[in-house]
Amino acid sequence: MLKFILVAALVGAAFSNPESKIDRALLSSLETKQVANVMVSFVGGNVKVVSGIENMKFASRTQRITTLKADLESQAEVSQENVRNYLTAHKSHFKTFWISNQIYITGATRQLVEAIVSFPEVAEIHEERIIELDSPVAPKSSRTPGILAEWGIEKIQAEEAWEISNGTGIVVSNIDTGVRYTHEAVRDNYRADYGWYDPYAETATPNDGNGHGTHTMGTIAGSMGIGVAPGSTWVACKGCSTSSCTESALIGCGEWVTCPTLPDGTEPDCSKAPHLSSNSWGGGRGDLWYEPVTEAWIAAGIVPLFSIGNSGILF
Ligand SMILES: *[C@@H]1O[C@H](CO)[C@@H](O)[C@H](O)[C@H]1NC(C)=O
Repeated sequence: MLKFILVAALVGAAFSNPESKIDRALLSSLETKQVANVMVSFVGGNVKVVSGIENMKFASRTQRITTLKADLESQAEVSQENVRNYLTAHKSHFKTFWISNQIYITGATRQLVEAIVSFPEVAEIHEERIIELDSPVAPKSSRTPGILAEWGIEKIQAEEAWEISNGTGIVVSNIDTGVRYTHEAVRDNYRADYGWYDPYAETATPNDGNGHGTHTMGTIAGSMGIGVAPGSTWVACKGCSTSSCTESALIGCGEWVTCPTLPDGTEPDCSKAPHLSSNSWGGGRGDLWYEPVTEAWIAAGIVPLFSIGNSGILF
């Protein structure tokens, strides 16, 4: 009985105190900066839709992904309707995401944040994450390209795997700083058709202001002995600007990888989805914020790959 009263009291407290849905770091940020870019999550997220699709049979992968996207869009439509209407009425700048059932709001004030959490369908609100990238470490000595495989390729026995497949017929993707698609090691296997999306600036062709993304795509799909799957074709999404990745761009790329669009974000075509998504960015141990996206990828039949850091220490 006492247990019941305690649980009831706790549940009651959660309902009567919408402020508990505001992330603490966001509260202090708003105190110092007055405004913040925020992500709003909704009760239930995308879990019901994603697990529903996982258990369904489809005639083709395209049909599976198209249905997944349509169902996630209707879920987001319903969950987000009241908040969307409120934001429109208050002339807020926002972007909705179907993949994770979230809304991104730029320049939110404390007053707006408090109004948003008063909607019972809102689960949580936090300041947008910004993920810093590690810089690639250049080798001490250079090698003659194209003669021998890189030591890393040799080390993981990629050459032995090439006896079975070098990636022919497979479409790979990365979410990174972009790719310099004119680089000699990657220029021949870029798939220009639905091959590029840059949520920061909707640029028309692949570009990389850092070098990190060209480096990772080279490792994935480069020719001249630097890539693991030189026979594959590649597409890319610019989830990271020059040296950091914003949460909203990473989620936007999560959508694009699932169902690619033209570089201006229009005309989605889920038949163009890559077979895998490589990600060389990350966060702390046990941080699950990107899980709604990776779960959707798995339901779509897209293999998620994440680096485990550059320090050489396995945690
Ligand atoms: C990959 O393998 C295919 C078929 O075995 C071959 O035709 C192709 O030249 C190879 N591509 C590369 C880049 O090694």
